[in-house]
Amino acid sequence: MTTAPDRDRVAFVTGGSSGMGYATAQALLAQRARVAIIARPGDRLQQARRELESHGEVVAIGADLSQVAKIDSALQQAHRALGAIDIVFTNAGTGEFSAVEEITETDFDAVVALNFKGVFFTIQRALPLMNDGGSIILNASWTMHRAMDTGAVYAASKAAVHSLARSFASSLAPRRIRVNSISPGFINTGQFNEQTAGEQKTRRYKRQVPLERFGEAEEIAEVVAFLASPQASYNTGQDILIDGGLVNSFRAG
Ligand SMILES: NC(=O)c1ccc[n+]([C@@H]2O[C@H](COP(=O)([O-])OP(=O)(O)OC[C@H]3O[C@@H](n4cnc5c(N)ncnc54)[C@H](OP(=O)(O)O)[C@@H]3O)[C@@H](O)[C@H]2O)c1
Repeated sequence: MTTAPDRDRVAFVTGGSSGMGYATAQALLAQRARVAIIARPGDRLQQARRELESHGEVVAIGADLSQVAKIDSALQQAHRALGAIDIVFTNAGTGEFSAVEEITETDFDAVVALNFKGVFFTIQRALPLMNDGGSIILNASWTMHRAMDTGAVYAASKAAVHSLARSFASSLAPRRIRVNSISPGFINTGQFNEQTAGEQKTRRYKRQVPLERFGEAEEIAEVVAFLASPQASYNTGQDILIDGGLVNSFRAG
């Protein structure tokens, strides 16, 4: 059994300009991978590239991943810069949390375009550029396991993400490409964190979590790096919860 990669691997990390994508880029660079980070063009992406460059070889590619032509172009740029891809982390995602009566067609389309369509086409278009034996990890969410009153569209998009992981795990097995999803719980990132949630809500949320705290992006990155590594050689088609116990508990006290 292989326990260490026999060469530096190439990773394509979407949403790599902040949060879990940024932390994962850092973790993969620490394992000597060469990494492309993708996010919408702008200062945040360039700042992330500058910071990550001190850890290893990184390229930053600006693209709106809800558009298939931009996905294609980002993958081609990464392939030209770094060579054939070994690891894909589809992580860029957006949330719209409102009561069902308030969700508009625009909200619905924005969530589905990035979280579902964007993920499907990122993987579809990456396949011809990937080495056999690679690993694909999709960022889903705890909300696909446990209902949230204001998260109907978001949760459905994440259930679709995990469904894609299972389907691709099956169809890509002949190429020895493993495909898994992860389901983070409450994680402190730009998209959601203790400051923006406010004191009251944060206290309420923490009470739902047996470990009684939010997770950090680095704790997600460690699991993604594991799934990307040869150490996870028998993991495929699965979803891994990283949630401090949130989904599988009921706290009566
Ligand atoms: N935080 C949580 O508690 C939590 C829990 C479960 C699951 N998740 C999921 O985790 C994933 C990562 O989110 P995060 O929490 O780490 O939040 P984050 O820090 O806001 O990161 C989101 C990343 O996606 C990029 N992005 C957003 N829209 C994009 C687009 N249209 N095209 C390309 N890139 C885009 C952002 O960059 P730009 O804005 O610069 O483009 C950023 O790099 C998401 O899929 C989210 O749904 C989060």
